[in-house]
Amino acid sequence: MNFEHNVRNAFSTHFSRDAAFVVRAPGRVNLIGEHTDYNEGFVLPCAIEYATYIAVAPRKDNIVNVLALDCNNETDQFLLTQPLEFHPEQSWSNYVRGVVSELQKLNYQLTGCDICITGNVPQGAGLSSSAALEVGIAYAFNHLCELFIDRKQIAKIAQAAENNFVGCNCGIMDQLISACGKQNQALGIDCRTLDLIEVTIAPEMTIMMVNSNVKRGLVDSEYNLRRQQCDAGAKALGKTSLRDVSIQEFEQQKCFLDPQIAKRIEHIVYENARTLNAMQAFTNNDVQQLSKLMAESHGSMRDLFEITTSQIDTLVEIINNVLGIQGGVRMTGGGFGGCVVAFMPNDMVQEVIAAIRSEYQAKTGLRESIYISLPASGVCVL
Ligand code: GLA
Repeated sequence: MNFEHNVRNAFSTHFSRDAAFVVRAPGRVNLIGEHTDYNEGFVLPCAIEYATYIAVAPRKDNIVNVLALDCNNETDQFLLTQPLEFHPEQSWSNYVRGVVSELQKLNYQLTGCDICITGNVPQGAGLSSSAALEVGIAYAFNHLCELFIDRKQIAKIAQAAENNFVGCNCGIMDQLISACGKQNQALGIDCRTLDLIEVTIAPEMTIMMVNSNVKRGLVDSEYNLRRQQCDAGAKALGKTSLRDVSIQEFEQQKCFLDPQIAKRIEHIVYENARTLNAMQAFTNNDVQQLSKLMAESHGSMRDLFEITTSQIDTLVEIINNVLGIQGGVRMTGGGFGGCVVAFMPNDMVQEVIAAIRSEYQAKTGLRESIYISLPASGVCVL
């Protein structure tokens, strides 16, 4: 399916004129480093080939018209000259409105435009369809209005839209990788400084994402609760963030901590160390080491951070039984459903798919969706 072609066609049909340009903004998968971003720690995501496509043409007035092809062709319209309000019935609209509102807070001068949106980032799968939309919209206005905003700032504006307008208290990872992704590379991100380290993914290896299709009910409330617990943990240890807690320090102090808070801190402190080790291991294509690190990461999310579900654990077990030390697998993203990510030699892909197909539904009653992608580049004008 050619999404650029489709979005241009739909734009022309709906607005009776041609789009001036199309922006492509990718979703993401995180290879390791979960819930570390808002603790100013380390993450290792890559952008994926599944993306949001946004066709745009300028208008001579202050109106913004938006058409969402994948949401039953719903439309939104707002004025750039009036304060933007939260749209209670149309959740997708708030990602667009939120970005516009954040750009305006920073005094960027915006012009009216017509916008058409489509794409193939699976929604609600934990592959950051919302970050792709936010980053795509920010980049579209950047291009349309010649704002010269750099990619990291685009990511921050997109994150602010999600935090302040949509109301989800997410970290910077999803927006930053959608903005800054590199072809064939994962990016190690220091979430304190936003420094990026390119980590090459060996061409003989495949990144597979398997959506558990667990209905993600508790995501927002549990996510925000984990953030509060991490903040409480940092405070208890006299730090501004858990990034500053060393393994040694944690081990010395843990007996003095509330047991549940101690579990949350233990996950973050060791996950940061694992993520730094994994950057090296991916670079060396040390698959045995990655197998171990990803297994430890999953165990830690299951037992210490407590964000997996039984179906996700089953899926990880099925894949792990095939891969052994020849690959790695773990849950990826915020948790309570969504996807697992598996890293494996290209020639094991069929065997892994066969195992998932024959066992997952039988064991859980749910049917999976499988996605494969090379690491892709970040947001761009096509
Ligand atoms: C979600 C958030 C990210 C990050 C992950 C967990 O995807 O949007 O900021 O916290 O969860 O690693």
